[in-house]
Amino acid sequence: MAFPIRRPRRLRSGVAIRNMVRENQVNVADLIYPLFVCEGQGIKTEVVSMPGVYNLSLDMFLLELEQVVAWQIPAVLLFGIPATKDCVGSGAYAADGIVQKAVRAAKDAYPELYVITDVCLCEYTDHGHCGIVQEGDVLNDPSLALLVKTAVSHAQAGADMVAPSDMMDGRVAAIREGLDEAGLTNVPIMAYSAKYASAFYGPFRDAADSTPKFGDRRSYQMDPANGNEALLETALDIGEGADIVMVKPGLAFMDLVRKIKDEFRLPTAVYNVSGEYAMVKAAAANGWIDEKRIVMEIMTGFKRAGADLILTYHALDVAKWLKDEK
Ligand code: PBG
Repeated sequence: MAFPIRRPRRLRSGVAIRNMVRENQVNVADLIYPLFVCEGQGIKTEVVSMPGVYNLSLDMFLLELEQVVAWQIPAVLLFGIPATKDCVGSGAYAADGIVQKAVRAAKDAYPELYVITDVCLCEYTDHGHCGIVQEGDVLNDPSLALLVKTAVSHAQAGADMVAPSDMMDGRVAAIREGLDEAGLTNVPIMAYSAKYASAFYGPFRDAADSTPKFGDRRSYQMDPANGNEALLETALDIGEGADIVMVKPGLAFMDLVRKIKDEFRLPTAVYNVSGEYAMVKAAAANGWIDEKRIVMEIMTGFKRAGADLILTYHALDVAKWLKDEK
């Protein structure tokens, strides 16, 4: 029997050659680090289901940013936890809302840090839904006006980019128009385009205290069974002016990262969400997996799938591990 002429193992024989032919690499410049800011002073409360992730008052938030900047993570994504909530989520678009204050503080202290804000109402509404509710229904068009107000107030506070995560129809167009009318034509929109109604957001809702008080998000977030619909949602967002599109969650939706990257060729982000983080942390805490290798494999998988940007709670660790390797 003739020996095979092609022997892929030749290029795996040592560290140098493996490094030379490696197809995909995670860079610190790909990372976006999500952070939760809250009112108060001296607060750094760990989220029980997300070890290493905290609710941070502004003073502690600035200390965390010192780390972010020191490890050369280029961008953060801010979520706000307001002191009080109401049925129209007024904390989301208040000039002195928690995110608006955090953006100002961050840009003051670290002008070079790229500050992105999550635009949604669910952390600010007492019912926990991402829009206005009437008789148990989440109303689409009336919610748009409030999302626009939120995005504009974030950008006016100094946010470099806004990221609508609500999944109302037409929100990207509405926000684009609102930003432009306010003279904020250079503020890009990163749209949560293919955002699924996922069980993987469980720990986030502990962190942000945003679990819906009734029903669920299936009337606005996508059915995990649908792939074609993700392409439609993404095409709509791009048509409405999205500059960057996103797939969320990541691990169970890698096929869509690849499809969306191939189809649209736009900067594509993937959100490595709270439940994905919690699973890795829990297994690692039990000594069942090698946390560093698992996390780097996940990050590399996102890159291989076509992601340009990775939103991840592991960002600080990944930045450190990348430095270690150099
Ligand atoms: C707000 C929002 C959520 C997440 C990001 N933005 C929660 C949700 O839609 O229920 C989830 C992030 C995560 O799980 O890490 N709508």
